[in-house]
Amino acid sequence: MDADLRSVVLDHLEQRGSIDDSVQLASEQQACDHNKLVGALKSLQALEMVETEAFEKKSWVLTEEAESYVAKGTPEKQVFDHVKAAGDEGVTQADLQAALRDVAKVGFAKAMQNKWVVLNKETKRATANVGDIEDEGKEQLQLVARWGGNAADLAAHLDDKKLQDLKKRKLVSQASVTAYAVRKGPQFSTTIAKKEADLTQEMILKGTWNNTEFKEYNFFAAGKDLGGGHLHPLLKVRAEFRQILLLMGFEEMPTNNWVESSFWNFDALFQPQQHPARDAHDTFFLTHPQSADRSKIDGSYFESVKRMHEEGGEGSIGWRYEWSEEESLKNVLRTHTTAVSSQMLYRLGQQYQKDRVFTPKKYFSIDRVFRNETLDATHLAEFHQVEGVVADKNLNLGHLIGIFKEFFRRIGITNLRFKPAYNPYTEPSMEIFGFHPLLNKWVEVGNSGIFRPEMLLPMGLPPDVQVIAWGLSLERPTMIQYNVANIRDLFGHKVDLAKLKTNPVCWLGNSQEQT
Ligand code: PHE
Repeated sequence: MDADLRSVVLDHLEQRGSIDDSVQLASEQQACDHNKLVGALKSLQALEMVETEAFEKKSWVLTEEAESYVAKGTPEKQVFDHVKAAGDEGVTQADLQAALRDVAKVGFAKAMQNKWVVLNKETKRATANVGDIEDEGKEQLQLVARWGGNAADLAAHLDDKKLQDLKKRKLVSQASVTAYAVRKGPQFSTTIAKKEADLTQEMILKGTWNNTEFKEYNFFAAGKDLGGGHLHPLLKVRAEFRQILLLMGFEEMPTNNWVESSFWNFDALFQPQQHPARDAHDTFFLTHPQSADRSKIDGSYFESVKRMHEEGGEGSIGWRYEWSEEESLKNVLRTHTTAVSSQMLYRLGQQYQKDRVFTPKKYFSIDRVFRNETLDATHLAEFHQVEGVVADKNLNLGHLIGIFKEFFRRIGITNLRFKPAYNPYTEPSMEIFGFHPLLNKWVEVGNSGIFRPEMLLPMGLPPDVQVIAWGLSLERPTMIQYNVANIRDLFGHKVDLAKLKTNPVCWLGNSQEQT
């Protein structure tokens, strides 16, 4: 289409020397949009084959209302036809209204004004006053439709007063377009020599490059959109944490199951079944499938966990309640990644039972957990935990603090505080706080402790092995490190995804010196 239009322009110039008005030319072509013609002109202009000069051109167009009158006749004509059809009996205003709706009122007024109809004051009925009329209004509208493209042409066919009347009745409106006058350019020719954009291997081999015309470089052309965007800051921080933990000698745990049985999420951790965290207020329970498959869990381990809860053993008196198998099989969205640590430690215990050699282990994971929380600036119902587990002999709280100091030093947070805490599965337990400069307060970034023997012994781990462990939030340290005051700016449905896509780089301010 574009190529054809270019030939139309060139042929026209060849035959007539110039084009006075591109709008006019477009209207003379079959189904030709003026914008497309302008496109063709610009392309010829770039090749210097034509020169153009823009000018504003006024035009008149029919309003939507007027379009319908061109089809059905003006309101006054419609009213006249209706009244005439009623003969001597005439019609009432109500009849007209019912038959002609929107156009009844204005049509009647005009028809009266034109003396096409008369109203009998007594019967209140209108009858025709003349035998036949000409719908002049419709003819005027047709003229606008035919010549309106060019205000000057229209002026020659319709006098201005009538046009202004139509405008007052809101039947026509004025528009303005940029039209072009066109004349031959220095490179004018009726055929368009296609310039090559690229030098090809073939041109070099055949030597045709020598007499090929190449397109000139356009240094002002907009370059290709490179896409840009960046990884979500949490993904970046996750990658950084992962790297640090790997460098510190930790192995990654498989955390690809979001759904766990209460057994692995709570019971295996020696968390009693009536513990408030196991309430629907804090935990998302699954309705489908509601329960885990009992046969997937090692039966004798299942029994030892039950026994440990009910009556204890190995020096512990247990929790002393009736442990429910049904409760333990309830599926939950894991509330912490410690549900994975429990399975890893169970495997480690089983390994020990098999070959009676204990191999120290350092595990970590960074993945998603779910809690039925009330959302606020520092709480989300879905967030990420950085879990760590170290199993070895002679471990104590000092090792745990040492690991935190080292880990946080590497991510640039040196302002840490530790506070005694309580977990059903660790003793002692310790919360970790980091100072948030924006919120100007200490924010809890994690929880930790030494796993209790009630948890480790049923798994089969040797009694002289300690396991120190922790769960950190991924979001909280990220907020501290990068000065994010509201956790919802970092993760969840309020994150501005468009920004991630359009920002060329991930701007993470306040990054302190790192190793
Ligand atoms: N699971 C605990 C939490 O979600 C963190 C933790 C892990 C504490 C391991 C102690 C030991 O808060």
